[in-house]
Amino acid sequence: MKLSVPKESLPTEKRVAISPGNVAALMKLGYQVAVQSGAGEQANFTDELYEEAGAILIDDSSPLWGEADLLLKINPPTDEEVTLFKEGATLISFAYPARNEKLLQSLGERKVNWLAMDCVPRISRAQSMDALSSMANVAGYRAVVEASHAFGRFFTGQITAAGKVPPAKVLVIGAGVAGLAAIGAARNMGAIVRAFDTRPAVKEEVKSLGGEFLMLDFEEEGAGSGGYAKVMSKEFIDAEMKLFAEQAEEVDIIITTAMIPGKKSPVLITGDMVKSMKHGSVIVDLAAEGGGNCELTELGKLKIVHGVTILGYSDLPSRLASQSSRLYGNNLVKLVNVLGNTESFTINQEDEIIRGALVLDQGEISWPPPKVEVSVQVQKPKGPSVVKPIVEKKSIFSPGVMLGGLCVLLLALGWKGESEFLDQLTVFVLSCFVGYMVVWNVSPSLHTPLMSVTNAISGIIVIGGMLFVSGSNPWIAGVAIFLATINIAGGFLVTHRMLKMFRKE
Ligand code: NAI
Repeated sequence: MKLSVPKESLPTEKRVAISPGNVAALMKLGYQVAVQSGAGEQANFTDELYEEAGAILIDDSSPLWGEADLLLKINPPTDEEVTLFKEGATLISFAYPARNEKLLQSLGERKVNWLAMDCVPRISRAQSMDALSSMANVAGYRAVVEASHAFGRFFTGQITAAGKVPPAKVLVIGAGVAGLAAIGAARNMGAIVRAFDTRPAVKEEVKSLGGEFLMLDFEEEGAGSGGYAKVMSKEFIDAEMKLFAEQAEEVDIIITTAMIPGKKSPVLITGDMVKSMKHGSVIVDLAAEGGGNCELTELGKLKIVHGVTILGYSDLPSRLASQSSRLYGNNLVKLVNVLGNTESFTINQEDEIIRGALVLDQGEISWPPPKVEVSVQVQKPKGPSVVKPIVEKKSIFSPGVMLGGLCVLLLALGWKGESEFLDQLTVFVLSCFVGYMVVWNVSPSLHTPLMSVTNAISGIIVIGGMLFVSGSNPWIAGVAIFLATINIAGGFLVTHRMLKMFRKE
């Protein structure tokens, strides 16, 4: 079977569907791989690299399209390219079927099978084929690069002989794939990063990347079906906009990624908020294609309003073409693998990945697919969403009562207790405090948080044991040191095993 990779015809597109590194895997499946000359040039993949990897280079686009059984692309084909397809061929590319109805019909006339990379379901098994996530990851990273380019200062704080530089403050709205990539990149460049999302479940992920998660005093579940967000109530949007208005005055850079699939992006940054930002600040609106999260965003443009640069680029993955092509190519190869090798090639609709991605089945429109149960845990909304302020539950054991009780207890002990007992009690209370602070401030850089805490406790036991080993009870101290050492060594062993699971041989 012949597999073709044409050059992308969109003038702004620098990516290519596969990198030379993917050729061998496709040939192993039995395909004869043909790549159009110059297809990878803008992504830094020369024709020679493809040739060395075993691909055939073709100049003329007619045979490349006309003879292909399987075509791998990034963007949907143009009207002109539709006429080049062989009847019965299979195309894998982005399709955006909701807005490309006419294209579906014209390709359908050529009896083509079309698997849409943007329709691969978000289920665990399909993670390695999730091109939307790979591209959003690149876009999030690139958004920070674009922001730093437009921003006239360092991201990191510095104290130099020439003066003190404060760190840049970055606000990321929407902590999905793109948002998390932006948080990681901005933190690595030394900025102070804050983030907000309607799904509180992402709080831990934001924190683990070094960001601060902003909270709202509202209870409303932001997770919808399919692992995506849902449209929030007007009250919630108003409340979050109040938060953003406060933040806008303070931060230097805002990166917005808030979107709900198939819906217009919510406007979260108004013209007034832009006006309240410092001169030289930057907004990168990743949701520009869906209408933008900032009121003043213009799709594909760089705009300067009230001294604030607003970037509405929609081609961020293409601006990092080499990286994006590698990741996209890997996603494609994984999907081609699901179709089987050239001898067993089937578009098996029993497979939920194939069924989800299939938008044209031998020319018949097969989109939207039937609903799939996703593996992401999603709380089902009970009826229409209601916004209600968080009400603190009153308990008779309020902090004031507990503190009062503690004071009375200590007073009673001090009044009646013997001085030796009081000395020991003071040492005990202080060591509890020091121990608590030491254990909970251990940063889990080598282990999981739980293991770090248990190892810190074991570490303290070892030190305690060493102090007591020369005392009257050396055996007990010795046993304590022995058991704690087993726990520490075990922690390292388990971590080593866990890391090994993620390492490729
Ligand atoms: P995602 O679905 O993983 O993340 C979107 C996040 O926004 C979710 O976590 C969601 O909970 C959050 N969100 C939704 N409504 C919100 C609200 N009102 N307030 C706060 N947070 C809210 O999506 P992903 O993959 O991270 O993509 C993000 C955006 O980036 C999308 O609009 C996508 O189209 C765009 N994108 C742009 C590119 C470009 O070149 N400009 C390239 C790739 C993606």
